[in-house]
Amino acid sequence: MLAGLPEDPHGAVGLPIYAVAAYGFKTLEEGQERFATGEGYVYARQKDPTGRALEERLSALEGALEAVALASGQAATFAALLALLRQGDEVVAAKGLFGQTIGLFHQVFGLMGVRVRYVDPEPDGVREALTERTRAVFVETMANPALLVPDLEALAALAEEKGVALVVDNTFGAAGALCKPLRWGAHVVVESLTKWASGHGSVLGGAVLSRETALWGRFPQFLEPDLKGQVPWEALGPRAYPERVRTLGLSLGGMALSPFNAYLLFQGLETVALRVSRMSETARFLAERLRAHPKVRALRYPGLPEDPAYANAQKYLASGGPMLTLDLGSLEAASRFLGTIRLLKAPNLGDARTLLVHPWTTTHSRLKEEARLQAGVTPGLVRVSVGLEDPEDLLALFLEALGAV
Ligand SMILES: Cc1ncc(COP(=O)(O)O)c(C=O)c1O
Repeated sequence: MLAGLPEDPHGAVGLPIYAVAAYGFKTLEEGQERFATGEGYVYARQKDPTGRALEERLSALEGALEAVALASGQAATFAALLALLRQGDEVVAAKGLFGQTIGLFHQVFGLMGVRVRYVDPEPDGVREALTERTRAVFVETMANPALLVPDLEALAALAEEKGVALVVDNTFGAAGALCKPLRWGAHVVVESLTKWASGHGSVLGGAVLSRETALWGRFPQFLEPDLKGQVPWEALGPRAYPERVRTLGLSLGGMALSPFNAYLLFQGLETVALRVSRMSETARFLAERLRAHPKVRALRYPGLPEDPAYANAQKYLASGGPMLTLDLGSLEAASRFLGTIRLLKAPNLGDARTLLVHPWTTTHSRLKEEARLQAGVTPGLVRVSVGLEDPEDLLALFLEALGAV
């Protein structure tokens, strides 16, 4: 519980907020030293003590060599990929990724000449899609809202064999409280901290985490001399990748996390494991009570033995998780249910309050019907991010709304 907490001259118990843009030097030599080594603080766009505490705490929680905190989960995905990909490179990505990740692939990396192939994230399908130009395999810990969990260990072994980076969007892994992909061999984790890590739906944030690996010694961007004539791989070894993320995402891209938000996220991390554990118990309770309800056409919860995600969830997740989906069979039924239920309807996850969403008409509405169905989104599907309310109260509200269907 102490990882990341800086030593404070006043003995403060907790993380102070450094609301400061620049850090001064006493002498020319001190300034020169800080610019040359990158150690210490210079300017908060690159690194600041409050954000650094968050980075160190995240590294400890997920077993990372290094973490870089950014302004949002989206900024994290963007910076992580920017540091990996160049014109002509290819990515093999899981079908049914978060919509804005697909948007990044098409509207940004596509224009830069990067090609993306979408496959079911199974080792055989991924192997077939790999070419000599593939640099990264991109999957999510748990597909949203299909709630399928890929075989992370097998994908990591394949990536290692082929010399490509396995990048896992671990937003659903709740900052390690539910899943730690780096421990299974993923090279890079990107994640939104806006969800379970924050826990109160009050702040945006994201992070890129990476592990000790020799992989970066095979990527041209780490073998070519930089502006100072230094070869990143020779100078930094496995830290060459996170340093490039910091340079491109923060120093040049400016997608910096404010110290105030870093402070709130750090607070969230103190309780994330407890919250996720309680939310998962409640989600299981609801899933068990609702799966045989006559108005529920299908219920998905990775913690139920009959669920298609069960085997991988058992292996890779600390519990069945705080997410479940109900398929009520039609748009009309979903509309009645959501119109009746006395809970929040919002496109977010991981909040202390239970949040429901109708992916067909909201989060996935920009996709063609066929693509929505492929992503497991049907007109009757309702996604539930289970909160910290009393489980019996929640069940009563679900039963009341199902009664109106
Ligand atoms: C799986 C996943 N990745 C990334 C993001 C983007 O995170 P943020 O909203 O913090 O930018 C989200 C947001 O919903 C998400 O669900």
